[in-house]
Amino acid sequence: MDIQIKTGSVLSEASELGMLAVFQDSELPQEVAGLFEPADFRGGASETLLLYPRNQGGPRRLLLVGLGSRATVSTSTIRQAAATAVQKARALKVAAVTIGVNGALPLPGDASGQAFAEGIELGAYRYWHYRTGLSDDQIFRAERATVFVNGDVEQIRRGVTTGKAIASGVILARELVNHPGYALTPALLGDEAVTLGKRLGLRVTVRGKQELTDEGFGGILAVGKGSANEPRFIAMEYGAAGEGKPTICLVGKGLTFDSGGLSLKPADAMETMKSDMGGAAAVFGAMQVVAELKLPLHVVGLVSSAENMPSSTAYRPGDIVTSLSGKTIEVLNTDAEGRIILSDALFFAQRYKPDAIVELSTLTGAIIIALGSHATGLMATDQALAEKISRAGETTGERVWQLPLWDEYHQMIKSEIADVKNIGGRPAGSITAGAFLAAFVGDYPFAHLDVAGTAWADKPAKAFDSPGGTGVGVRLLTEFLRNYQN
Ligand code: BES
Ligand code: MN
Ligand code: ZN
Repeated sequence: MDIQIKTGSVLSEASELGMLAVFQDSELPQEVAGLFEPADFRGGASETLLLYPRNQGGPRRLLLVGLGSRATVSTSTIRQAAATAVQKARALKVAAVTIGVNGALPLPGDASGQAFAEGIELGAYRYWHYRTGLSDDQIFRAERATVFVNGDVEQIRRGVTTGKAIASGVILARELVNHPGYALTPALLGDEAVTLGKRLGLRVTVRGKQELTDEGFGGILAVGKGSANEPRFIAMEYGAAGEGKPTICLVGKGLTFDSGGLSLKPADAMETMKSDMGGAAAVFGAMQVVAELKLPLHVVGLVSSAENMPSSTAYRPGDIVTSLSGKTIEVLNTDAEGRIILSDALFFAQRYKPDAIVELSTLTGAIIIALGSHATGLMATDQALAEKISRAGETTGERVWQLPLWDEYHQMIKSEIADVKNIGGRPAGSITAGAFLAAFVGDYPFAHLDVAGTAWADKPAKAFDSPGGTGVGVRLLTEFLRNYQN
């Protein structure tokens, strides 16, 4: 989408559709206020009203979008309002939409430019590759958005450039999640990494079954062995370690499909399990953004990828798996597979002597029971790291909520016959999963993000989301990394 930043007023620029974002109970110019009953629109958050001003030279249609009280306006409000404008443009078949704000935004120019761009780009996204017979009207998309501002235009434009890069990372993650399991196998995910690496200058390695066997990636191999689609371990490296350049490892769970294996899931729980690589998708999206924004960091993206299937070659309840670390894992439920493939990736991450390991996974149904779709679960071995991530969550609106990793939880996954067991019972199901992961990172600062409730949305709550993969984690990780050294 073409995004222009201009000074001036959306009300005096001719267009097929103008959007005016309005603070709650703020005074509107007379030419707008005279068009409706004050009680019909007060500017509350996500309130909207479509008007048809009949004056010459301005917008033919004017969409008022409420921002809520000026005191609480954030980048999330702006992102939401911009997405609402773009979606209205789609519905009304308007190719070029104009956007403005009634009053000065209480936000830095770069932050508001970024939020406008994110909302405009993300609000337009749909996964329709497999729909056939759609008419031109149905696939209509707005092509240009012009945002009228009264701040530092150059600063806002820089924000737009950043926001576009972030949005395309989010869209990459959504695409990966939305692709059906047969269309994105571990091997194809590996190919995606190679392509991404060539495009962005990342150093990428993909290990297949033979290398995994030779090097002892016992967790990934065990989970993957029930499927004809062989597993992969993907490493993507941006930048290099050096003076003042911390190393951050991003680790993602990449189950391209999770049937549960022999501990088979019920049919309804399996419906969305092509999305069980939402953590991996966030790592891909974040690596793209990191490279495009040329962040002054050394960032390593690690993805364990497998397909969890029931078959005569599948791993079984009762099996004991030796992970890359040498630690043994008693498998009691083959559906708790994410932690098993991640154990190899987390141990591998120690090779980089990272300043932080941040791992994302659609790990437990229990986190959906705890937090619903409104927050990602956070568990961490290092409180400074946890707080950096929480702050990024508040700034981006990709909120996280921390759960404890006390010693009692580690006790719950001790096994009689192996070093750990892969389930700790129903109580504290998300935390025992996090405790399991923490057993493989050594003493490196570690944060685990359980995105099981946030990576997928059947019916999205926000205008900048679309049904299916949300791309959660990309905006969060980007914000975390951009501020890492502050
Ligand atoms: N991929 C699932 C978790 C999940 C559930 C993600 C719902 C998204 C939506 C994970 O592999 C899993 O099956 N976890 C089990 C663990 C249990 C067997 C201890 C779960 O949460 O039921
Ligand atoms: Mn599972
Ligand atoms: Zn899973």
